[in-house]
Amino acid sequence: MTVLSGPSCADTSIAYLDAADILKTMEKKSDKPVLVLLHAFQLHSAMWDPQRRLLEKKFRLFTPDLPGFGKKRTRRAASIGTMADFTAKELRRMKIEEPVVLGGLSMGGYVALEFIKRHPGRVRALILCATRSTPDSPEARKKRAEQIKLVRREGVRPLMKAMVPKLLGTTSLRSRPSVVRAVKRLAASAPASGVAGALRAMAARRDNTPTLRKFKNPVLILAGKEDTVIPIEEIQKMRRAARTCTYRLLPRTGHLLSLESPELFSEHISKFIPNIN
Ligand code: MLT
Repeated sequence: MTVLSGPSCADTSIAYLDAADILKTMEKKSDKPVLVLLHAFQLHSAMWDPQRRLLEKKFRLFTPDLPGFGKKRTRRAASIGTMADFTAKELRRMKIEEPVVLGGLSMGGYVALEFIKRHPGRVRALILCATRSTPDSPEARKKRAEQIKLVRREGVRPLMKAMVPKLLGTTSLRSRPSVVRAVKRLAASAPASGVAGALRAMAARRDNTPTLRKFKNPVLILAGKEDTVIPIEEIQKMRRAARTCTYRLLPRTGHLLSLESPELFSEHISKFIPNIN
């Protein structure tokens, strides 16, 4: 059985897992599908703790910290492409040669789309969670530039305080205090350099709608009914672009689907993966 020990979202301490830690705990030989999950902006791999608990029996889970975050906090991501190439390198380092199921939430989804463009053939199915395939608008870029200035001037906390109410749905803000605490803790642990680098990278990302259109393998799109970060039109655009698409809208859930509705989120993934070849 694959056993990955890691921090629980309810823990007060932040621990980090990297590929080497995970490799030590992974079975050398397993016929379970490899599921790679890429984290959202300002968080790190510990955001996938509920999925480690809920999915590790069925899948070999790999949840890397993207450059600038978690254990990779001292690295700098120059672009979303750098993050995608870094993920491919980590897979090679872990000797995962077979095509994987690749999922990403929000910024993780931007990276996943860039990954399928740069490393075609490495992905047997794609899971896009609360994300979009389109680039930033000029207004969004301007806002990111202001956020970079804020982070440089005052550190990550003011941005975190402004972001958390937007990242979570009204149900979570009202009735899931442990989720609110976990998100604040994860977001506050990000280094200013990593946050500024990711903001710059997201602002410069390309339109990957054509990439999604070309992708021939199955796609699962998950979205939150209470998500105010990704407009539903963006989700519909991806649904139209994907050739073979399963779509699920999670009720009582905001932008951070996997933390706000971990059971339902994981159940959708569990049902989707056995149906792919
Ligand atoms: C995220 O959750 O990763 C961010 O909201 C993505 C973004 O700012 O575009």
